[in-house]
Amino acid sequence: MKVQTVIPAAGMGERLGMSRPKALVEINGTTLIRHTLQGLSSFFTELPAIVVFPETFYEEFNRACRDMNVLLVAGGAERQESVRNALTSLEADAEIVILHDAARPFVSPDTVRAGIEACREWGASTLAVPVSDTILMVNEDGFLTDTPDRRQLWACQTPQIFLKELLLSAHVRALSEGKQFTDDASLIRYYGGKVKIVPGHGDNFKITTPEDLNYAAYKMQKECP
Ligand code: C5P
Repeated sequence: MKVQTVIPAAGMGERLGMSRPKALVEINGTTLIRHTLQGLSSFFTELPAIVVFPETFYEEFNRACRDMNVLLVAGGAERQESVRNALTSLEADAEIVILHDAARPFVSPDTVRAGIEACREWGASTLAVPVSDTILMVNEDGFLTDTPDRRQLWACQTPQIFLKELLLSAHVRALSEGKQFTDDASLIRYYGGKVKIVPGHGDNFKITTPEDLNYAAYKMQKECP
């Protein structure tokens, strides 16, 4: 089955405190989007990876993705809209879609392969890791309201991998019903799809804060000095 990779990278990274898109931030001299594409490069040799960029930054993204098999598509205000824009540009013969956030540069090809296998079997899969902290539910006044059983809690990661037709039809329904989700596995589950959890790795963390960025630079320097 032919696989096509989609990388939503149209977020502005407010929590990083930057005035530029997060995916353009440089880590040890290379943009975040390029690091992430390099980690996934074996999955877009056949069909181009679709990178979703914030509309006014075409030149910068074009430079960051130079010499790579990449198609640039303008994103939207919310992640879901950015993904939807990418879905309209999928190749006709793509059968499986790998969705991976630009903000996770440490993705391992082995876990992506495990995700593809689970998608072939179940129709949808997401990487996730069991939480190690106890998670608290807190109300608006700052008081503890519940402590969910930790054994059932996993932190969501990407890649999330889907049969193309399943993902397309769920997005069409979400748009027509005005429903918003922060990830696509939750969207698929909401409309009745089965999503297989594939154990990921803590290394595949999402760069969100300046501390994450410092740690990513340290880790890359240590791994590829
Ligand atoms: O905001 P968050 O960290 O959850 O974003 C996850 C991914 O979705 C990031 O790679 C970001 O660039 C992307 N995104 C997007 N379009 C938006 C918002 C976020 O492509 N409007």
